[in-house]
Amino acid sequence: MTTTITRTARLMVTLTFVGFSSLLAHNAFAQSPLFQPLYEVLTHPRCMNCHTITDFPRQGDERRRHAQLVVRGTDNHGAPTLQCSACHQDENVADDAVPGAPHWGLAPLSMGWEGLNASQLCQALKDSSKNGNRSLADLLKHMSEDSLVLWAWTPGGNRSTPPLSQPAFVEAVQAWVNAGGPC
Ligand code: HEC
Ligand code: HEC
Repeated sequence: MTTTITRTARLMVTLTFVGFSSLLAHNAFAQSPLFQPLYEVLTHPRCMNCHTITDFPRQGDERRRHAQLVVRGTDNHGAPTLQCSACHQDENVADDAVPGAPHWGLAPLSMGWEGLNASQLCQALKDSSKNGNRSLADLLKHMSEDSLVLWAWTPGGNRSTPPLSQPAFVEAVQAWVNAGGPC
């Protein structure tokens, strides 16, 4: 009896360790616990599908390449002949089949976050040469009010939403900004 319990306990410790180290290997944990909740939201497909490093947007939770051969284009709003606005309106339309929000477009390449671990993403987010010359206060404002950010919590259809509620996310960003944006 005791042996079985000991063995089970040992197995559980081992499994926990394996799970933990594989997470560490992917740098899924931010150095600063204050950045961790931001990292979990920013890397959600609702944000990442626009914050790509590719010359096209992505779709769905599996993050497949956008259909209809949609491309980034020179201004992040598509090819001259097929702009995002040809389909994406200021709100979700057609029974939520086409998502939409004001100023729909791909985030510029400098704001592409694919492949970055938590510490790299945190640094990129704060880098004024990449983030549209935003201060920490500007980042808080953008992440609290921007229509594309807010859309992630009302994406329409069966689309999933980020792991934190929108108010909880704003609180987390506020706490991170108050602490000086630790990574
Ligand atoms: C429909 C596409 C789209 C979606 C969805 C989207 N973004 Fe963005 N994002 C953009 C665009 C375009 C810009 C650049 C806008 C600008 O500079 O004014 C941007 C800029 C930003 C910036 C400022 C730049 C930087 O690198 O610091 C932040 C922060 C940001 N987005 C966060 C988010 C978060 C968080 C989500 C999800 C909750 C999200 N975005 C979802 C398109 C999108
Ligand atoms: C020909 C119409 C069309 C054009 C043009 C178009 N889209 Fe889309 N887009 C759609 C449709 C329809 C969906 C929904 C697909 C689905 O949910 O299966 C979609 C979904 C998306 C999504 C996925 C949302 C998510 O998180 O699942 C993003 C991001 C996106 N489009 C960005 C863009 C950007 C950026 C442009 C311009 C560069 C663009 N689209 C141009 C029709 C279009």
